[in-house]
Amino acid sequence: MQADLLDEAQRAIARTLPARRDDYRLGYHLSPPAGWMNDPNGLVYFRGEYHVFYQHHPYSPQWGPMYWGHARSADLVHWEHLPIALAPGDPFDRDGCFSGSAVVDGDTLYLIYTGHRWLGEAGNDEQGMRQVQCLASSTDGIAFTKHGAVIDTPPHPDIMHFRDPRVWRRGDHWWMALGARQGDDPLLLLYRSRDLRQWDCLGRALEGRREADGYMWECPDLFELEGRDVFLFSPQGLEPDGHERWNLFQNGYRLGRLDERARFVAESELREIDHGHDFYAAQTLLAPDGRRLLWAWMDMWQSPMPSQAHHWCGALTLPRELSRDGDRLRMRPARELAALRQSRQALAIGALESGSRTLEVRGALLEFELELELTGSSAERFGLALRCSDDGRERTLLYFDAMARRLVLDRQHSGAGVSGVRSVPVAPGQTRIALRIFLDRSSIEVFVDDGVHTLSSRIYPRPDSLGVGAFAVNGRGVFAEGAVWSLADLKL
Ligand code: FRU
Repeated sequence: MQADLLDEAQRAIARTLPARRDDYRLGYHLSPPAGWMNDPNGLVYFRGEYHVFYQHHPYSPQWGPMYWGHARSADLVHWEHLPIALAPGDPFDRDGCFSGSAVVDGDTLYLIYTGHRWLGEAGNDEQGMRQVQCLASSTDGIAFTKHGAVIDTPPHPDIMHFRDPRVWRRGDHWWMALGARQGDDPLLLLYRSRDLRQWDCLGRALEGRREADGYMWECPDLFELEGRDVFLFSPQGLEPDGHERWNLFQNGYRLGRLDERARFVAESELREIDHGHDFYAAQTLLAPDGRRLLWAWMDMWQSPMPSQAHHWCGALTLPRELSRDGDRLRMRPARELAALRQSRQALAIGALESGSRTLEVRGALLEFELELELTGSSAERFGLALRCSDDGRERTLLYFDAMARRLVLDRQHSGAGVSGVRSVPVAPGQTRIALRIFLDRSSIEVFVDDGVHTLSSRIYPRPDSLGVGAFAVNGRGVFAEGAVWSLADLKL
C-alpha cells in the first residue's frame, strides 16, 4: 500500500515536470522538483551524507496531505533528489505525515513524525484533529518501513495540537521534544525512551501563556550550544512589537538550561532568529565535525507565492552554522558554500554623493561581500539596489537608514506579489556594517556583521531584472572595497 502511494506520488511529480516554468527556480537552494514544500524535516547525517527531508505535497503547489520529500548531499552544496520517503494513508497518519526528525541507531535510520488525521472535513481545525507520533525506519536511507504510532495519546485530554517530534540522544536515552497547545496556551513537552518505541512522558518542560507566548509552539528543537541549552521554536499567535514580529508567525529561540527534572529553565526572552519576511520552522543537525547546522523553510504561511502558477512552491534556506555570543545566536553561511563561487569581481564603489550609480555587475545568482562605512557617510540612507530592471520598475533595496539607525531590506518593488520592509538595528557606536548577501532567482539572504543578524526573504523579479546599483540619498554614502561572485547554477 505504502509502495503504491509512493509510486503514484512520484508519477504525479514526473507528469508535472514538463509543465513547470523555471523563471523563479532557485539555482542553489533546495526546493521540490514540483508541487509544494514547507518545513525541513529529519535533518540527519547518515553513512557519510547529509539527508534533508521536507513537508511535501506532490499533487499540487498548495499545501495538502503531507508527504516527506527527500534529498541528500555529501557536501552541503550539491543535492540529489531521492524518491519521496513517506506517504500518508495508514490509519495512524491517514491525512498527513507531519513534521518530525531523524536519528541514526546503529545501521538504521529512523524517522519520527506526526501522524495527522482530520476528524471532520479536511483543513477544518474547528471540527478537530488527532495527532500521534509515529516511527519509520530504513536500512538503506531511501526506502522506509512504517512502524505505526509510538505515542498515541497526548498527556492531557485538552491537548489536540500535539506534534513535530524532535528526537536526540542524551546519555543512554532517546529524548523527544514536542510542541503542543492546551486550550489557548502553548506547551513544550518532553518524552524519553530506551528504544524509540516505548516512550515515557516527562511532562511539561516549559509552559507558555497565550498573551505573552502565543497559542502554539510549532517545530521545537532543543540542543546544547557552547555550554547553554537552546530552545528553538516557531510560535504562532504573537502580535508585532516595535520592529519585531512582523511576519504572520515567528521563528525564535530562548536560551536556558534543561535541568535534572526535565524542565527548561529559560534564561532569556524570545528572540527572533532571522528578521526577513520568509523564515519558519527552522531545525538543526549536529554535523560530524561538531558544527550545529540549521535550515529553515524560506517562506511564510499565507504569503504571496507566485511560483504556484509555475507548478512548484517552497524552498529551504541555505544551511547555516550556528554559534553563540552571550545570549545571542549567530548564523553564518555554511563554509562549504564557498564552493558555489565562480568568477570574482572587485567592487570599488567608493564614496557616492547624493545619487545613484549602476555597477558593472549583473546577475540573478550572486554573492556580495562588502562593508558600508558609517564614519564619513552623511547620507540619510545609502546602500545597494539589487535585481534592478532596465525600465526602473523593479529593484530590491538594502540600505543603512541613518535616521532610524537600522539596516533595511526593502522589497516594495521586488517583483510579483511581494512587498514590505524588514530591518535590523545598527548598534550605537558601530562604525561599519559588514554585509554578505546571497541572491538566487527568487530569494535574498543577508548576513549582517558576520551573522549577528540575518534577513531572509523571497523576491520575485522578472528573469531579466539583473542590474545592480549603489545609491545615496541627501549626502555622502561610503562603501568600503568589496567583492562579488557569480554563483553556480546547480538547478537544484
Ligand atoms: C509548521 C507546521 C507543523 C506541521 C507542518 C504541517 O509549518 O504547521 O507544525 O507539522 O507544518 O505541514
